[in-house]
Amino acid sequence: MVVVITGANKGIGLELAKQAVAKGARVFCGVRRPGEATELKAALGKNGEIFGLDVSSDNSVSSFVEALRMRTKEIDVLINNAGVYLDSQNGGIESLTSQMLLETLNINSVGPVRMTRAMLPFLKVGKNAKVASVSSLMGSLSDNKAGGAYAYRMSKTAVNMFVKTLAVDESWLTAIALHPGWVKTDMGGRAAPLEASKSAEGIWTVIETSTPADSGKFFNHAGRELPW
Ligand SMILES: NC(=O)c1ccc[n+]([C@@H]2O[C@H](COP(=O)([O-])OP(=O)(O)OC[C@H]3O[C@@H](n4cnc5c(N)ncnc54)[C@H](OP(=O)(O)O)[C@@H]3O)[C@@H](O)[C@H]2O)c1
Repeated sequence: MVVVITGANKGIGLELAKQAVAKGARVFCGVRRPGEATELKAALGKNGEIFGLDVSSDNSVSSFVEALRMRTKEIDVLINNAGVYLDSQNGGIESLTSQMLLETLNINSVGPVRMTRAMLPFLKVGKNAKVASVSSLMGSLSDNKAGGAYAYRMSKTAVNMFVKTLAVDESWLTAIALHPGWVKTDMGGRAAPLEASKSAEGIWTVIETSTPADSGKFFNHAGRELPW
């Protein structure tokens, strides 16, 4: 299995990468500062490589593709994991700046689109191609009872629509959106009940057991289908 994971230097992405290696996969990771990704480097060993990647930049995604092309023709699984939660502390409409909203959308929504588009030629050569995009229950329209966090919520709703549309258009691949749970990471904070390793374990199970019939669906880390 050949896997690409974005934002794999820490948190859920790091755990996804570690577990991919344990499954015997070849793992290519994209991170913003490869020189600082020491834990990831040690975890990958000879089973993977780390390349510089900022999912908010077309040029950076192009450089990532060039580097990848020297190593492989195929990818079986793309995990769009990289994300930011810029309005985690201050989520009201009055404090929402256009700049914060656009930056969040660029990373969380356009990032997965850029990466998926760039990876399509590799996925077409891969076996049972899967694109798993780490979204959030906060992007669910029907689940939104708490309000707030406009930028983050909007960005995850947009990525959910991307997943659904991709599934309709590209029936040869399996495209799913995933809610990882509330996870103990820099983003989720210390109060979160779920360890990143447990969330990643669940995500991998969902990815590995998903079939084309699941394409265009939204699941949590426990495999439960979630409402859009
Ligand atoms: N933790 C939770 O409770 C929770 C709940 C629902 C959904 N999620 C989603 O799960 C995913 C992973 O989050 P996490 O909890 O593991 O958060 P995290 O520990 O903050 O990790 C986020 C990762 O994304 C990377 N990243 C951010 N912007 C990037 C960019 N422009 N280009 C490339 N990489 C970028 C970060 O890299 P740097 O180190 O360079 O910043 C980091 O590796 C995110 O999509 C998040 O929205 C998390």
